[in-house]
Amino acid sequence: MIWIFVGICILLAVGLVVRQTKPSNVQPPTSPKSIVTTFKGDPQTTRAFTWYTESVEGHAMLQVTEGTKVDSWDRPDILTFTAKSTQINIGGGKRQYAHQAEAICLKPGTSYTYRVGSEQSGAWSDPAVIVTEPVSPETFTFVNVTDSQGESEADFKAWGHTLDQAFGKFPEASFIVHNGDLTEDPDQEKEWDSFFGQAAKWLVKIPLMPVTGNHDEIQGNAERFTSHFAVPANGAEGAIPGTNYSFNYGYAHIVVLDTESNLKAQTSWLRADLQSNRQPWTIVAMHRPAYGGNRYEKIEDWIKVFDEFGVDLVLQGHNHEYSRSYPLRDGKIVPGGEGTVYVIANTAGPKFNSLKKDKYYHAVHFQNNKQMFAAVTVSERALSLQAYDADGKLLDEFTQQRSRSGD
Ligand SMILES: [Fe+2]
Repeated sequence: MIWIFVGICILLAVGLVVRQTKPSNVQPPTSPKSIVTTFKGDPQTTRAFTWYTESVEGHAMLQVTEGTKVDSWDRPDILTFTAKSTQINIGGGKRQYAHQAEAICLKPGTSYTYRVGSEQSGAWSDPAVIVTEPVSPETFTFVNVTDSQGESEADFKAWGHTLDQAFGKFPEASFIVHNGDLTEDPDQEKEWDSFFGQAAKWLVKIPLMPVTGNHDEIQGNAERFTSHFAVPANGAEGAIPGTNYSFNYGYAHIVVLDTESNLKAQTSWLRADLQSNRQPWTIVAMHRPAYGGNRYEKIEDWIKVFDEFGVDLVLQGHNHEYSRSYPLRDGKIVPGGEGTVYVIANTAGPKFNSLKKDKYYHAVHFQNNKQMFAAVTVSERALSLQAYDADGKLLDEFTQQRSRSGD
């Protein structure tokens, strides 16, 4: 069976190379920028990459090889995957190009070196190293940030610094969940340049799983945002592809919802998604809060589904202040392990809102006027969250023991 799998993988990789054709147009080559890695398929055996170029020459490609060093990219065992390239109109009559490629048939728990670029132009990214998910991670941590929402390069320095601190504290963290409002205006490619540029050393190797915020999707259009990320294509029919999806990692099932549009379609999708979920812990990430400094009332139906399926943690954004709810069920405070905890990890960007009034559901609620991040650690028996400011000071933490009956 394993040989059939390996054979299919080799054929697929060779097929991808054979399909290369000569370039149809020749412009001055530009180096890949805005490089980011994400999960699109199984995190144990696949890894997706997205990057931009300002011009194109030939076919954009991803090359991958096992190990943390590569002596030559001409070796016959280098895996080569052709990217899907899309022309992006960035305004003012100018165009850029978004490229997405996915490495498949990787080994679990293994380091790979990769580069993206084009054979014809000779413009390649610096090699970077990724690690696939181990077969059964006993425990893992991911970093949660939200609302980096900058405009200038200086604004995004704070975002880069927040990630530096997060990975300084949690060097083994497996991925990032960003809770939305990545930039102030998604039509300004310069803002994306700064978003990716200031965090490049992390985003080239640590998957960033994005949530769509109201600054990412404007009046039902999220194209500029979604063009930057290759995420699972398993969302609701009717939702904007790239804004609603779910994936498993370790003992967690992680669901990303889009609070900006198609709420109804996502409600029935959410019920079906959670119905088939067998993971011990369920985490939802969405931008506008069900329970934060304020409440987004249009998502009441989602809260009923969270209650029905015992969602453990809901990561939120939008309010630009820190808030953690008591465990809630049907809007009422319940003992730990019997309800859903709702968190907003302040902001990883330049804007801090003044603190809203405390509500009955707030266990912790403050404005420290400093960028923050949260680290969520999941094992079979426990889920914990620790919230830090960007100076590395621990400001809040809680742990939930596994609560499902019969487990
Ligand atoms: Fe927002």
